[in-house]
Amino acid sequence: MKQLEDVKTLMSKWIADLNNSYIRDTFNSIESGKMVRSKLMFLIGDNRDEVVPLASIVELIHMASLLHDDVIDEADTRRGKPSVNATEGTKVSIMMGDILYSKAFVELGKYDQATIEAVAGAVTKLSIGEIEDVNLAKEFNSDENLYMGMIYRKTASLIETACRVSAIATDEDPEIYGEYGKNLGMAFQIIDDLLDIVSTSEELGKPALNDFVEGKTTLPYIYLYEQMGESDREKLKSLHGRVLSKDENSWILDKFKEFGVIKLTFRKAEEFSNRALEVIEDEEMVELQDIVETLMYRSF
Ligand code: FPP
Ligand code: MG
Repeated sequence: MKQLEDVKTLMSKWIADLNNSYIRDTFNSIESGKMVRSKLMFLIGDNRDEVVPLASIVELIHMASLLHDDVIDEADTRRGKPSVNATEGTKVSIMMGDILYSKAFVELGKYDQATIEAVAGAVTKLSIGEIEDVNLAKEFNSDENLYMGMIYRKTASLIETACRVSAIATDEDPEIYGEYGKNLGMAFQIIDDLLDIVSTSEELGKPALNDFVEGKTTLPYIYLYEQMGESDREKLKSLHGRVLSKDENSWILDKFKEFGVIKLTFRKAEEFSNRALEVIEDEEMVELQDIVETLMYRSF
């Protein structure tokens, strides 16, 4: 997609305009990833040029959130490369995030009130979602509603907003595309959480069951807990938030199998992805449908 290159070029220009070679080089060393948010925005906005700056704003905010998230999660890698916090230190990673985020807001200031409010509101939600994620990880969480609210804010809200503001900019219906993005985002995060369990550590580039080791009781663990008897529940809780031995690792994986939890979780993701497909049913947007399929059936 040529437009994605335009987004990369504009982001690099905005950062180069700051006239600091260290910041420019550090920025350019960051892998841009799949740019799912931009892709969605161009598909909704029929590849129109006015989407380029708006998509660049969203991508900068997304990058900023990952720079902060990798500090919070103490992650050494991001997109298969050493993370900025690993190579440059946590202080640089946090401030690089601040620069990308505030530069995005300088550009956002040129837009209409509805767009500004939507994007600024999404960043607030993102940050609240990240705090919820951190706090929920302190204890074993078995509350599905808390998990759903957290992933909505942490992940789905920015995707929802990206779709919404692209629709505003290109005279499409923001409600329809916002609802599509929200449901796609929910499905995306649930699949991400599932992949932490079903992928090998080589595929993930991090240890298997890493979320649970980090204290994150994602949806499969919540479903497992709901299905189990009391003594299994106690054992599961006792393993929460610590490094697992080989036997403990296999015990959890066996229990997932025993209770059909992977299928159950996948079905929940499907509820969201079906809803995303349903809301765009009348729009005849094959590529937006394809993105839903791709996200649902990706392997890692
Ligand atoms: C990845 O989660 C993180 C997010 C989706 C959002 C994080 C948001 C913030 C840190 C707030 C950002 C604030 C500003 C001002 C930009 P994850 O750890 O589950 O996923 P991962 O495996 O990709 O790290
Ligand atoms: Mg993380």
